[in-house]
Amino acid sequence: MNQLQLFLPCAAGVEGFLADEVHAITGRSGHDLMVGRGGVLLRGSWRDAMGLNLHSRLAQRVLVQLSQSLYRSENDLYRAAGEVAWEIWFSPRESFKVEVTAQHSPLTSLNFAALRIKDAIADRFRARRGQRPDVETRHPDVRIHLHLTTDEATIYIDTSGEALFKRGWREDKGDAPLKETLAAAMIAATGWDPHGDSPQPLYDPCCGSGTVVIEAAQIARRIPPGMLRRFAFERLVPFQKHVWEAMLDEAEERILEHSPVGIYGSDVSHRMVDFAQRNAERAGVGKTVQLRGGDALQRMPPCEQPGLMLLNPPYGERIAAAGTAGRDSRERMAQVERAGRETAQTEDGVEFFSQLAAHWKKNYSGWSGWMLTPDLKLPGKMRLKESRRTPMWNGPIECRLFCFDMIRGAVKPRKGEASGPAGGDGA
Ligand SMILES: C[S@@+](CC[C@H](N)C(=O)[O-])C[C@H]1O[C@@H](n2cnc3c(N)ncnc32)[C@H](O)[C@@H]1O
Repeated sequence: MNQLQLFLPCAAGVEGFLADEVHAITGRSGHDLMVGRGGVLLRGSWRDAMGLNLHSRLAQRVLVQLSQSLYRSENDLYRAAGEVAWEIWFSPRESFKVEVTAQHSPLTSLNFAALRIKDAIADRFRARRGQRPDVETRHPDVRIHLHLTTDEATIYIDTSGEALFKRGWREDKGDAPLKETLAAAMIAATGWDPHGDSPQPLYDPCCGSGTVVIEAAQIARRIPPGMLRRFAFERLVPFQKHVWEAMLDEAEERILEHSPVGIYGSDVSHRMVDFAQRNAERAGVGKTVQLRGGDALQRMPPCEQPGLMLLNPPYGERIAAAGTAGRDSRERMAQVERAGRETAQTEDGVEFFSQLAAHWKKNYSGWSGWMLTPDLKLPGKMRLKESRRTPMWNGPIECRLFCFDMIRGAVKPRKGEASGPAGGDGA
């Protein structure tokens, strides 16, 4: 189990950050670590596979590649799956499931492709062990992944089980919580390093259920993201309990009692702040994050030292800006009542974002504001020129992580408007 071909899928745009993370966790580099489309390929050991499940914040899963071959028909898939030594991975006592993904596959039915893989696995077990494992589609012990391109079929066994964004601490959700893996990717993209020479505080002024601050607090305290959950590899044949327990003990010893920097969150909805607090407690960082209620348009910096703000701000109809920007109009308040919650939309957010930019410019000098949004017009609405823009995908939604540096003079005046107190020489 020392020379496994591992594949770690991740969200598009995150591959480079994931490769850095995999290098930091396993020490692998060069030909052993390659950035692919939608993931990272790694030549590693079984121990690496366990360590990546425990420590990776960016990977969606850790898969072991068991076969790669050209195919033209379902029979080719049956043959390829029949040649895999499944019996060294699991026994007929474990239930299994086959999942298929495809890009430009010529096959007409992916369900039929999955069925042929399942038949090959069952037939091989029956021939060698006299009995076959059952198929279980909802909670299988073992997940097999088949990926098809135009002419190539790759078969993997999944060592993770539930997707890795499920860290085990989220019970309270907001309306649009970020996936934990995406929050971690946002943090990676900022380069925030709480253990570096000059660690900076981190603040999410629209923290919702707390995903960004909880990920940040765990990073700061070196709490592994997988500490609270179980993994599929615990049911596989190569698993050795004592090795895994030693790895967990080692990880636990590295956990810091305190964060080297302040980590702060606030949200206009007190209900959300309660959710975030409860999630943070389950994640073991209840005392590490400092959470408050409050309008992002009014909240002053949570600490003296400038740091970075990192948020996915309200957008669209589902998660509209609330607070002072939404309070003016009766119609908006009627919307709030109709929606039965504390939201008030400001057209397409122009008002909210221009007020937010003015507030930041006036009160957050020296901070940088990092915002993930599907709205490519956000810099225009903020009347700020971004210093960085990183493409990222929130599921199927293409987004940008914009960075705005709060230096005097970065807010542009609107047409026909004189420069405000914040100046007006921005691009
Ligand atoms: C897209 S959600 C953020 C989700 C969050 N990252 C999470 O993981 O749950 C936007 C959040 O902004 C909050 N919000 C809306 N208007 C606000 C305002 N004026 N000030 C502060 N928070 C606001 C909403 O209550 C909502 O929780």
